Amino acid sequence: MTRRFDFAVGRTNPETFPVDKMQRAASIAIEREYEALTNYHGRLGHPELRAIMATRESEREGVSVNPDSIALMNGSMQAVTLTAEALTSPGDTIICEEFTYSGTISAYRSLGIEMVGLPLDNNGMRVDLLESTLDRLGPKRKPKFIYALTTYQNPSGTVMSLERRAQLIRIAENYDIPIVEDNCYGDVHFDGDKPSALYALSDYAKIIYLCSLSKILAPGLRLGYLLARPPIFDQILERRHDAGGNYLAAAIVAELYRDGVWSLTDHLNKSLRVKKNLVVNGLANELHDICAWSDPAGGLFVWLRYPEDVDQKKLAELAAARNVHFAPGANFHINNDDRPYLRLAFGHVPDQDIRDGIPLLAQSIREARTSNAPKEFGDLYD
Ligand SMILES: Cc1ncc(COP(=O)(O)O)c(C=O)c1O
Repeated sequence: MTRRFDFAVGRTNPETFPVDKMQRAASIAIEREYEALTNYHGRLGHPELRAIMATRESEREGVSVNPDSIALMNGSMQAVTLTAEALTSPGDTIICEEFTYSGTISAYRSLGIEMVGLPLDNNGMRVDLLESTLDRLGPKRKPKFIYALTTYQNPSGTVMSLERRAQLIRIAENYDIPIVEDNCYGDVHFDGDKPSALYALSDYAKIIYLCSLSKILAPGLRLGYLLARPPIFDQILERRHDAGGNYLAAAIVAELYRDGVWSLTDHLNKSLRVKKNLVVNGLANELHDICAWSDPAGGLFVWLRYPEDVDQKKLAELAAARNVHFAPGANFHINNDDRPYLRLAFGHVPDQDIRDGIPLLAQSIREARTSNAPKEFGDLYD
């Protein structure tokens, strides 16, 4: 059975993929760069794409970014892994949000890293608890880095406030702990202003910044990047032994984005905003009396909190029988705790399937309850 109402997987919108433009870019890039393709290109990768990503960064953040501080990666996931490999040994501790990206959790687990989680609230990671957590861990378990999803956090969609960003940098610098800022979703942006990335707020030399083309174009390209300052930049790249990234994909995308990333990104974001609104309006119609959910200003996910008395196994079964799929909260919890949350990914779901699917999800949540108790919480985090 095909997964009709597939809210489980964080993909972007295939309807806005620039097929014609990509075909033209591929043809031009191959003709122009076939000779370069017959060679290896070292650790940093395709120079024009790095320059375009430096422009993307400096236009978003309002600071100048040197293309030679950027290394293209096989998706930002390669950067997540290389950074962890470079900065930790098995048994080491890191700090992250208590709910975070499941791919990162499994990478860290497989490297034997112990994750210490800070809770989330509507302003993102509870940085106000960082110092007391560091003091509790003491020098023996001093974290090797802090991994933070600052903007449109996965899974919650929260944005870390400017005040907390400043506090995070100040504490990390005082304790001499690197920060890994994963800004994968930063340009999947619907409404309003967003705070600057950490590297644009400070000269602290141990901020490692990761970004991607997966969320503004397509994860199948496997193009992401790492931006950092020496010596930590070189320390991470020393772990790289793949003879560089996919030069063809980079050459094609450099041609596609010859005039910058924003016009294609804006086109995609308009369609995603419609989908996000369909999800939150559907939830407001169906579940306002028993659930709470995020209304994110960007990203690909709505984070939903449901009553404690929902039987989670039954919910998964009832939803699957209606061909509705979602990602359970436990997938994103650093200890796999089955808290009463779920994540709805909407990027690739056709608009009509969102309209039809949310009521089926709502029906499944109601039927999986074991009581009729009124809602016992006010919002997502109280
Ligand atoms: C927070 C976060 N970081 C990294 C990734 C990996 O993305 P990619 O390797 O495709 O750039 C994802 C993918 O969902 C993500 O959500």
